[in-house]
Amino acid sequence: MSITYHSQNQILHLHGGNVSYVLHVAPDGSLMNLYWGRTIPAEHMDPSLWAYRSAASFDGRINRLPHELPTCGTGWYGTPAVGVTNAHGDDVVCLQYVSHNIYPGKKPLDGLPATYVEDDAEADSIEIILRDPLTGLEVTAVYSVYAETGAITRSLRFHNAGAEPMTITGAMAASVPLHGQDYDVIHLKGAHSRERMVVRTPVGEGEYRIFSQRGASGHEENPFMALCEPGTTEHLGQVWAVNQVYSGSFLGAAFVDNNQNTRLSMGLNPDVFSWLLEPGEAFTTPEAVMVWSDAGLNGMSHIFHDLYRSRLVRGNWRDRERPILINTWEAVHFDFNEEKLLDIARVASELGIELFVLDDGWFGKRDDDTTSLGDWFVDRRKLPDGLDGVVRKIKDMGLQFGLWFEPEMISPISELYQAHPDWCLHVPGRARTERRNQLILDFSRREVQDYIIQVVSDVLASAPIDYVKWDMNRNMTEFFSAQRAPQRQRETQHRYMLGLYRVMEEITARFPEILFESCAGGGGRFDPGMLFYMPQVWTSDNTNAIERLFIQYGTSFAYPAITMGAHVSKKTSASFAMRGHVAMGGNFGYELDLSRMSEADRETARQQIQQVKQLRHLTQHGVFSRLLSPFEGSAVAWQFVSQDKREVLLCVYRILAHDQEPTLRIKLPGLDPDAVYTDELGNRYNGAVLMQSGIWLNLSSSLTSAAVRLTRVM
Ligand code: DGJ
Repeated sequence: MSITYHSQNQILHLHGGNVSYVLHVAPDGSLMNLYWGRTIPAEHMDPSLWAYRSAASFDGRINRLPHELPTCGTGWYGTPAVGVTNAHGDDVVCLQYVSHNIYPGKKPLDGLPATYVEDDAEADSIEIILRDPLTGLEVTAVYSVYAETGAITRSLRFHNAGAEPMTITGAMAASVPLHGQDYDVIHLKGAHSRERMVVRTPVGEGEYRIFSQRGASGHEENPFMALCEPGTTEHLGQVWAVNQVYSGSFLGAAFVDNNQNTRLSMGLNPDVFSWLLEPGEAFTTPEAVMVWSDAGLNGMSHIFHDLYRSRLVRGNWRDRERPILINTWEAVHFDFNEEKLLDIARVASELGIELFVLDDGWFGKRDDDTTSLGDWFVDRRKLPDGLDGVVRKIKDMGLQFGLWFEPEMISPISELYQAHPDWCLHVPGRARTERRNQLILDFSRREVQDYIIQVVSDVLASAPIDYVKWDMNRNMTEFFSAQRAPQRQRETQHRYMLGLYRVMEEITARFPEILFESCAGGGGRFDPGMLFYMPQVWTSDNTNAIERLFIQYGTSFAYPAITMGAHVSKKTSASFAMRGHVAMGGNFGYELDLSRMSEADRETARQQIQQVKQLRHLTQHGVFSRLLSPFEGSAVAWQFVSQDKREVLLCVYRILAHDQEPTLRIKLPGLDPDAVYTDELGNRYNGAVLMQSGIWLNLSSSLTSAAVRLTRVM
């Protein structure tokens, strides 16, 4: 069992891998967090020795205590993990421990994405019930700890066991007090086409916040935040990280209190969320994944990658090698006919590409982005033989077929809008804010969900489709649902997410053989919530190989390479070969008009495709480590090592070469030190030497790259 209860000191010890997470039931019944870090014998902790030491102060005791579930109104002054306004109108919540229950395995979260186990031995769980005696609010904190890695998940279940309604105003899935304030905070900041840039800065004084109010996790921030010791590198140092398994608005914060301790928290964004809880009703928060490592930032990422690849992503595609694809978007945008598609497909097939993806523009009357979202029937002006006709012709060339949808959207110029003008998010009497000429369907409404499930299913059943790109190209405005009572309007954003998850669950379950890729104007919803339904994500609309190095590097902090779509396109001054090396860092594909490529590029593409087919088991299922950061220098490097350490792929990129650029010397972690490796030229290397002394590479001119493949011979 990786969860132990020590009754002598009321300690609950969650332990897995080399990690301890120690909770304590205080004498007044509140739940404290004593420790999160490298394994300790928690049974020897004496909470009275340090947790209550700071009792006397102007602020009183409560603000100085390491609460696990901080609440409002009894002397704690930070962002509450549990915020509730009761029927009398006050926000006071006083939670007291009632009981706990430890069990093997991990239960699913009803209607929400979550990590899972396949065997009960993989993780243990504990549910700790606390109650506010006056109002009858019951909060169950649900934790699981993975035995091998020590990754911990937490979600909160609110239950109104009282006689009067109450309103949830704050719900932080993670809220962890850490000792001291000497930390750097790391988060992934961005914009459309510049997603997940790594930001690292001392946490400082006060509160450091990241958030989305957009109704999507968003381009601007990712629901990921880490604290680390200031000297932490990619390979050394302690890191505490949280990532919320959720695709909507969120709040993450690192708060340094006046006792010089730091609280790391993440949850639903209280600025755009509240939830009315009638007597007898319950509400479950999304899950937070909490990862600790003292093996630096790569150590943290390895735990996230392993968990997400194997116990977040589901379905038939989880463990399969992903196909090499050609996507039509950057090749033709909306301007195509069947002839043009077949021209591209012919070259794709001849080059060895496996999947042809027809992007936007195949439905309604969509010749540009002003119309037709919602009209999911084929445009016979462009495809006279229908979808089935073009699919079969492309399949006859030996390619699989994929199709683009944007199911959450509606164009004001569409048949669907004419039939159901009230089906979009809007506030009656106000203008409906358009972005990219489109409005958002109100997925919080059951009939809208049912309609989309049906109409998308009908298209998918109408032709042998192997892949779906599920796009979403604008953020929410007027988050108001026409049929909801005023006191429940602040539930709309979250209810939308629950509706979206229901739709995705239904459709992916109906078509288990289809490979789904999510997308949101590129990487505007690259989060663990989406990965639960769709095993890969279009990483960014920015396909410039050099800028992609930054984007893929940042994305890899939490997300494994197998989840990142990465395509070779025309957008860059880097060579075709270098663009290929960058795209090999994710799920490989092309996004250009193959029928217009030069013969030289075609030949390079042919070689790239062969190489990717030989290497993708390694890039998709191997251990990925970051070695040189584009955020810190002009050379970038990362590597993939197979789980058995027999195969290594080192990818190195020179973005900018200065005059007299020194030779690169790169250490390769995670190899077998006792083995001998050989490269493709037959040079032999000792494992320990590669790990400790490194490999020398001469990449001395700008925009060059190398992919070095090593194989263990002894
Ligand atoms: C945004 C996506 O990120 C692109 O790849 C493309 O699918 C367009 N939408 C199509 O409208």
